[in-house]
Amino acid sequence: MSSACDVLVIGAGAAGLMCALTAGQRGRRVVVLERANKVGKKILMSGGGRCNFTNIGTTPANFLSANPHFCKSALARYTPSDFIALVDRHGIPWHEKELGQLFCDRSSKDIVRMLLDECEAAGVHVVTECEAASVARGSDGFLVRASTGDFDCASLVVASGGLSIPSLGGSGLGYQLARQFGHDVLPTRAGLVPLTLSGRHAERLCDLSGVALPVEASCNGQSFRNAMLVTHRGLSGPAILQISSYWQPGDALRLDLLPGLDVAAHLRAQRSERPAAELRTVLADLMPRRFAHRLCEEWLGNRPMRELGDRALREIASALGQWPVIASGTEGYRTAEVTLGGVDTDGLSSTTMMSRHVPGLYFIGEVVDVTGWLGGYNFQWAWASGRAAGEVA
Ligand code: FDA
Repeated sequence: MSSACDVLVIGAGAAGLMCALTAGQRGRRVVVLERANKVGKKILMSGGGRCNFTNIGTTPANFLSANPHFCKSALARYTPSDFIALVDRHGIPWHEKELGQLFCDRSSKDIVRMLLDECEAAGVHVVTECEAASVARGSDGFLVRASTGDFDCASLVVASGGLSIPSLGGSGLGYQLARQFGHDVLPTRAGLVPLTLSGRHAERLCDLSGVALPVEASCNGQSFRNAMLVTHRGLSGPAILQISSYWQPGDALRLDLLPGLDVAAHLRAQRSERPAAELRTVLADLMPRRFAHRLCEEWLGNRPMRELGDRALREIASALGQWPVIASGTEGYRTAEVTLGGVDTDGLSSTTMMSRHVPGLYFIGEVVDVTGWLGGYNFQWAWASGRAAGEVA
């Protein structure tokens, strides 16, 4: 015996729940299968427990994809203002932190509660501790085999997310189903992830674990100005997480360690004002002292300012503005916030997220080859793509 429904959604994360409540509001009979014991685990963990649920500055330029145009339609039709209106309707207090990032005042639980309340009002049936294992074509749709039984559905929405943080739901099922139904899956890799250093590079820095400073990180034509954090394995912090999505092993990655400052002019002025001061003392006024001292011990040397000629100061300024990072890799899916790559958008409709090969089959959220920057963009993609599919599935 199998249970029947109009729309079956695999995965009760951000995208799956948004899709389910939208389809339910249209009067569709919707079932959501979630293998974990509770829904929305990543929402609950996100934003340090306060869920950075959107970014008011969202544009398609904030996303990585082999087809940068694909995300435009869904993002234009369900905007941050639409999601804010939903949050406001539920009386959830929120605030803007920085750079357009909106967070709950209280807890991420508010967002999960809101989505579940909307699902309940729309008659959606959410089944937890139920893992979808395989899918076959039925006479009129799909037959999904799951750990608690079989489900017949007319429309199947794959919202099973990516590979990042397996303990929070990361799963390869979506990619497997995409291949089964004739879709290309673009190579996946960890994104928004700390970078690791090894050998001499690690020895020179990693004992400074915990030191943080503002930098501008640049790689492959993209730059992010934000905080960097030294960790016991390498580098993290928002600037590094952002640039990690643009970095691949072997790529040149550079840091401006004093962004926004005319360092050569500053050093010349310091030489005039305090010629006896050592370089490390001057730099320690601009960045964490331990970091400044290490730069001088290991790389720049440490002489009194009066002994540094104009050329030497230019070279120091240039080194500080173009600091090369030789990363050995990333911390991988274990700590990555997102998975880059995934279901090739060429095989999907950008307005409905429906498969071009198999009518009634949809892919939404992180499983698709659309990945946002850090700062609420990934949830906005989950809401927008979930909405797009929910309006038609
Ligand atoms: P998501 O992974 O959320 O949901 C997929 C669901 O499918 C999971 O619940 C999983 O258990 C389930 N599933 C998988 N296989 C299954 C199967 N076979 N059967 C049944 N169920 C199955 N983004 C942002 O915009 N702001 C933020 O603050 C953060 N913060 C953040 C913190 C941390 C620690 C992480 C790991 C990630 C973030 N993100 C974020 C990214 C964001 O969480 C992510 O992009 C979205 O959750 C993706 O939503 P999806 O619904 O596509 O997948």
